[in-house]
Amino acid sequence: MTFEPWTIKYRPKTSREVAGNKTAVEKLRGWIDSWVEGPPSKRAVLLYGPAGVGKTSVSEALASERGWDLVEINASDKRSGEILSKIAGLASSQATLFSKGRLILLDEVDGINLREDQGAITTILAIIKNTQYPMILTANDPWDPKTRPLREACLQVELKRIGIRDGLPLLKTILAKEEIRTSDDALKYIIDKDRGDIRSILNDIQVLSSKAKTLTMDDVSLLSGRDRTESIFEVLRVIFNSRTVAAARRALSISDVDQEMLFQWIFENTPYQIPNPHELEQAVSALADADMYFARIKKTQSWHLLSYALDLMTAGVAIAKQSPTSGWVPMRFPQRISSMSRTRGSRDLRKRIAGAIGEKTHVSVRRAQQLYFPLIRFEHEHSPERFEQIASWLKAKDDLDEMFSEEFS
Ligand SMILES: Nc1ncnc2c1ncn2[C@@H]1O[C@H](COP(=O)(O)OP(=O)(O)O)[C@@H](O)[C@H]1O
Ligand SMILES: [Mg+2]
Repeated sequence: MTFEPWTIKYRPKTSREVAGNKTAVEKLRGWIDSWVEGPPSKRAVLLYGPAGVGKTSVSEALASERGWDLVEINASDKRSGEILSKIAGLASSQATLFSKGRLILLDEVDGINLREDQGAITTILAIIKNTQYPMILTANDPWDPKTRPLREACLQVELKRIGIRDGLPLLKTILAKEEIRTSDDALKYIIDKDRGDIRSILNDIQVLSSKAKTLTMDDVSLLSGRDRTESIFEVLRVIFNSRTVAAARRALSISDVDQEMLFQWIFENTPYQIPNPHELEQAVSALADADMYFARIKKTQSWHLLSYALDLMTAGVAIAKQSPTSGWVPMRFPQRISSMSRTRGSRDLRKRIAGAIGEKTHVSVRRAQQLYFPLIRFEHEHSPERFEQIASWLKAKDDLDEMFSEEFS
């Protein structure tokens, strides 16, 4: 991997490495350890607190330090009904002397869409009642009325924002490992600015320090003017044009832009916004890694990877772009592509081209369209010579010419 977000590199491996909230983490550990004597009176914990303070990481760490399997579901998964019933089975099956331990994690339960997921709360309550393994439910807002029945069924543990006392030593250790010179003032400023959201802080300082290997007050004060109400264009503008990505990450959670849609937007615009070929290569490779995470999440339900995929597609692209775009480059709508497949003929045409790409690169038709069409389109517009090379390599010159002539007509 060419680019590794610090949120991945420095995620806590054990619950002791989790910064701050010592009492809460202790309480979690005590509750988990009490399971050796059989299920305690509360079989589930509602672990709540603001974004980026370690809810998912501490759950992961608790499972891995005990050598347990982490069985997880994230509320944003569209197939939550199906997965919940699978989890019900895994939770209620009796442990044997030799079976591996399990921790059941229902991440971001307050994200459940109750209109679409009627019955989800009832199902979760039933799972809590019958589970033979400890269960952790996480939420940002514990007072959300729709999750109230869950709250009552759980032991409640709160993770608070990370303050300067706990945040500063954590950041200093990380920056020392990265050999980046900084000052306490700059770090305190950023902890304050990002309101103790460690994920945003790590993303911000990684981007801000990537050029000069220093992190000064001047660097972090760039964050002060940023906007908090972001539209998709604002998200893209931030990713491509400023040196901070935390706003983009936050925009993901407050806007209703679907993350895969945002991925399309970013991917689509990357070749235009990052004209330098070396930087483009780095950005595309971060996007390819993000895409690989998305695929793995879908396949194995490893939802804790989601935040890393999002970091890759935001921070990864922001860091890759070092030189400014000359002049104003408009953002493009990815819909433009999907609207092209209006007619059956052009759908077949695109499938044929994607098939040709798939043969050469061993990707599916759908992924060929996602990953390669934007790049080929870019070459078509910018470098007729490279376009010709690609077309002949794919043996799809006629099809490609036809597709682009349709597209621009
Ligand atoms: N308390 C913490 N101590 C150390 N690192 C943290 C802490 N909280 C968050 N992080 C960092 O931020 C990343 C995201 O944290 P995460 O557990 O996903 O937060 P949450 O689930 O509360 O939104 C982690 O991978 C880790 O790198
Ligand atoms: Mg989380």
